[in-house]
Amino acid sequence: MKEKLLNIKELASASVESVASLKDLYEAKVKYFGKAGLITELSKGMKDVPKEERPNVGKLINEVRTEIEEMFSKREEVLKKEERAKTYVSEAIDITMPSKQRNVGALHPITLVRNELIDAFTGMGFSIYEGPEIEEDYYNFQMLNIPKDHPARDMQDTFYITENILLRTQTSSGQARVMLKTQPPIKILSPGKVYRSDSDASHSPMFHQMEGLVVDKGITLCDLKGTLDEFVKIMFGKDTKTRLRPSYFPFTEPSVEVDVSCSECHGKGCKLCKGTGWIEILGAGIVNKKVLEDCGIDSNEYSGYAFGMGIERIAILKYKIPDIRLFFENDVRFLKQFK
Ligand code: DAH
Repeated sequence: MKEKLLNIKELASASVESVASLKDLYEAKVKYFGKAGLITELSKGMKDVPKEERPNVGKLINEVRTEIEEMFSKREEVLKKEERAKTYVSEAIDITMPSKQRNVGALHPITLVRNELIDAFTGMGFSIYEGPEIEEDYYNFQMLNIPKDHPARDMQDTFYITENILLRTQTSSGQARVMLKTQPPIKILSPGKVYRSDSDASHSPMFHQMEGLVVDKGITLCDLKGTLDEFVKIMFGKDTKTRLRPSYFPFTEPSVEVDVSCSECHGKGCKLCKGTGWIEILGAGIVNKKVLEDCGIDSNEYSGYAFGMGIERIAILKYKIPDIRLFFENDVRFLKQFK
């Protein structure tokens, strides 16, 4: 038995030394410790050993087993180290190689200005309402006191999907949507895309507007003026002034056009303000009582003001951009300047 054991030990030692990979080592191990392995078989054979020899033989088998196990685990360590070293070489990354240059994007100038406008007005307590771009004639025109045959429609010719569904021409379309759903106090800002069949250096068939609507008890033109004064100071600088000029919109009465003092010449007159010292930035007014009543708001109890501005127009003034079409050509050389 002893001889047999020594034999196995030698055999094991030889095969442990000869294997060159972990895979082969594990396969070799099965030959000794597997179900039908040499050591396993020996242990099974214990039952044939005479009773009085069993303790000695058992001890011997155990010793040899431990020794062979140690041989295997030592070899395992060595092979593991070798294989790891090989992977380090084969999977090495050259961290000194220059990386691929990634172009980092930036916000579009219209988005930048829109965000600035939103910041200015939300700072004064306005919340955001976004209406649909594909709009019903009803909200875009009729509820704004612009019935089917109204001449004011001519100025806002747009793209019709059906006779009653169109691409909205103005974010004012959100006014009735909000007022039909909510009772005053209302204080909302509505940014978004609008569409008109118009295209030249200062008109684009798609552009952006920002609408404001405030309805509450005792709202007057003073509230509008105060809010806009604050807004232009945030947007164009502390000493910017506003001026209201009488105008006409079917959904406001009275209606005004709002000018700001020219940031270029500070009122003296220059090319930018066409010699007048003032630049028009938006339309506004006191919400027409008919609009309030049509939306189910008691016009004896409540009044409101509304305003609407073109975001491109504000961006053009702010960044002195000569042609509105530059915003939509996506020329990276143009867009990069706003990073
Ligand atoms: N919606 C108008 C336009 O697109 C702008 C406007 C004028 C909006 C007066 C208003 C307003 O809310 O009160 O020309």
